[in-house]
Amino acid sequence: MSFTRRVLLGILATLGVLALLGLAIAREPQRLARAQRAWHGQAIARGAAIFHDACTECHGVHGEGLVGPALNADDLLVAEMGQALPPRPRQRGWRGDLPAYLEAAIRNGRVGSKMPGWSQQAGGPLTDQQIRDVVAFILNWRHAPRPDTPRPASLHQRSAGLGSYLFHGPLGCAECHAFDDAAGVIGPDLTGVIGRKGREGVKNAILNPNADLAPGYAANVMPETFGYALTENQMRSLLDYLEHPQDAALQVAPIEKSEKELALWGKTVADSAGCFGCHTVDGTRSDGPTFLGLYGQTRTLDDGSAVVANDDYLYESIVTPSAKRVAGYPDIMDQDYAFRLSDEDIRAIIAYIKTLR
Ligand code: HEC
Ligand code: HEC
Ligand code: HEC
Repeated sequence: MSFTRRVLLGILATLGVLALLGLAIAREPQRLARAQRAWHGQAIARGAAIFHDACTECHGVHGEGLVGPALNADDLLVAEMGQALPPRPRQRGWRGDLPAYLEAAIRNGRVGSKMPGWSQQAGGPLTDQQIRDVVAFILNWRHAPRPDTPRPASLHQRSAGLGSYLFHGPLGCAECHAFDDAAGVIGPDLTGVIGRKGREGVKNAILNPNADLAPGYAANVMPETFGYALTENQMRSLLDYLEHPQDAALQVAPIEKSEKELALWGKTVADSAGCFGCHTVDGTRSDGPTFLGLYGQTRTLDDGSAVVANDDYLYESIVTPSAKRVAGYPDIMDQDYAFRLSDEDIRAIIAYIKTLR
């Protein structure tokens, strides 16, 4: 399709949607509010896909910051009492509002830094709409519970916690869905949805929303983009959350696998996740410390403090490697294992490390 035809089609589609919106206004003001929320939900979902493709390498999967600064941060997104703007835009002497601040940074980039300009005017790949979508996605972090606080006690709880974070935060599901309160919501109430459809059924409903429409709901409202916005592990966490939405930090059933089975599995997982690229199991030093004899040992961290390598420490070292760094090693371990591995996988790796004495 030629560029002009695509533009024309785009304009026609927009006009069509505007006409529909117009109908909604004529009918009922409440519907407008709903349509706007649905739009917003879709913008967030599109923004999530863009962020995932273009921004995570420098700003981190949760916007926690890597090469570039943290974007999922209160000093960027939340104004203190009595202030019109959060600290960071204020320090830069910004006069406009927060969305305009983010938009300007993304549109033009920051001269003299690694942050490129993303707008087409600046030679980048993103349209104005895509830039607004990614801004909507970043702003949505204001409502999100931070993934690392409060950290639920058990590993499974954390998975549901991550699902809750995704649901209410970056994926924007909560823009359209609620539990035990269908009022003012665009999509169906999701209470007990796993009980009704099973995990596979719910997964399909998320990946192919139009394939099996919930009775009484329109097609094409729920975004179809979650298939590529979500990793397998994120999906698992989301399903864990939908299974226990009442409380993402619910006490869950004990482990069914024996420690031995778990450890065997953990070795396979560690291998396929590439851990042995930096960690040995025979006591020799590689890019990272050896796993041999690690469990139960006292570790000296780069800030001079000491910590015992128990389950919690190992877990933290895998999901947030920079939080406690072993003295004498660089901060090179990937920050996104929490998304690449399920909680069961991480638990299995820990069981495996325990056997290396
Ligand atoms: C190659 C690395 C890199 C990529 C890719 C990147 N950024 Fe940045 N970004 C940075 C750096 C570095 C800064 C800090 C620049 C400065 O002010 O010194 C920054 C700053 C920002 C800021 C301003 C933050 C503040 O505190 O003022 C925003 C917003 C932002 N980036 C959004 C994005 C978005 C959205 C994308 C994807 C479309 C993206 N960035 C992709 C490196 C990157
Ligand atoms: C823009 C609004 C919107 C967003 C955002 C949205 N949904 Fe939906 N969802 C809907 C609508 C409308 C339906 C009913 C039509 C259908 O089945 O596709 C639906 C249906 C569903 C169903 C099937 C429910 C049933 O009873 O059969 C599930 C499960 C679901 N959504 C989960 C999610 C999850 C998880 C997310 C976030 C990843 C999400 N939705 C994001 C609007 C949305
Ligand atoms: C690119 C290299 C690299 C990869 C790949 C890597 N790590 Fe690491 N890891 C390190 C480095 C360097 C350290 C020490 C600095 C630190 O604590 O972050 C470390 C620290 C650790 C620690 C704490 C060790 C101690 O001695 O206290 C654990 C546990 C760990 N990694 C587990 C893993 C697991 C499990 C994987 C695979 C899922 C993995 N790492 C993949 C480089 C890596």
